[in-house]
Amino acid sequence: MGVPYLIPTERFSRCIAASKKVWWDIESDVIRGRRFDRASKFLPDGLTLASRLDFLSSDDKVYFSQVQGRTYAHMFGLVERFIGAKVLEISRDHWLGDQVALEALVRFCEEELKHQALFRRVEALTSEVMPAGYSFTWDPNEVAAAVLGKSSWAVLALTLLIELFTQSHYRESIREDADLSELFKDVFLFHWKEETQHAILDELEWRRLDAGISNEARDAAVDELIALVRAVNAIVRGQALADSDYFARTCGRDLSPTELHILRHTVLDGYRFQYILAAEFQRLVDIDREPTRHIDTADRETLDLRARMRAVLPGTRHPPVRHALSGFGFDALDQPTHRVGVDAIDDTAI
Ligand SMILES: [Fe+2]
Ligand SMILES: [Fe+2]
Repeated sequence: MGVPYLIPTERFSRCIAASKKVWWDIESDVIRGRRFDRASKFLPDGLTLASRLDFLSSDDKVYFSQVQGRTYAHMFGLVERFIGAKVLEISRDHWLGDQVALEALVRFCEEELKHQALFRRVEALTSEVMPAGYSFTWDPNEVAAAVLGKSSWAVLALTLLIELFTQSHYRESIREDADLSELFKDVFLFHWKEETQHAILDELEWRRLDAGISNEARDAAVDELIALVRAVNAIVRGQALADSDYFARTCGRDLSPTELHILRHTVLDGYRFQYILAAEFQRLVDIDREPTRHIDTADRETLDLRARMRAVLPGTRHPPVRHALSGFGFDALDQPTHRVGVDAIDDTAI
């Protein structure tokens, strides 16, 4: 079993303070009566990989970013359904315990409900100005039901991954691009303000759960995490195809078969980059691309990867562990926190 775990009440308390400080309203703070226009990009080229498509004009690339941006908003609405439900579920552990931790998690749930409403609003506004025929068919409740069938350890690990890339996308890419739609940029500015607390809460709760499970249960949870990352990959593969074909039908010009082929691969690579992020997780799904005849190789790679993942997990080879996913490039609590997370309450830019 894991080591005894002391709930870090002070960190939960700081998350509550930050949450209260940055709270916003969808209409009066974010939308402010504005509408999307078709002249500006939604997402930076660094996320969409548009620079690979030299056969597209600059106007085509604006539209390309809008198609991907529309899906980007949908994807957050999708994952936030299971994130909110999971956080609500684990808050039960604090019902008759640490009331500060409970309050922080209740606020987390309330914010994710608001974010889902925000992303539904974004879809309504984008559908006003974009051509008919766009499709995002993933049902949030069906996806959530499948995800929530896994252990809390695995779901929180996936959630931490998602909430960390939310921050890196905004801080390192969206915020820095002066050519983006002001409204789209504001949607993700306000979203990021509340997500900074979520990533910290994810990790605090994930560490708490990790301290209470056996090595056998953790081994099983690693397998579940691998399955979840692969499920994300399956979703982005399907959506990449749908979005590529929507773009091809509605961009106002004919694409050659070769151009369509390149487009589809670029969108898929872009989505895998956006949603699966870390090179090590990328390798988890790369083996899905292997032809069937290489299945033995793929199985061996999976086994090798499991061994390496377990080697960096808490309580295994290198205790004490700074961060269970640090070997994969994630580090929320241990990174310098200036202008990040709870320290954002001191950031005058907010
Ligand atoms: Fe969110
Ligand atoms: Fe969140």
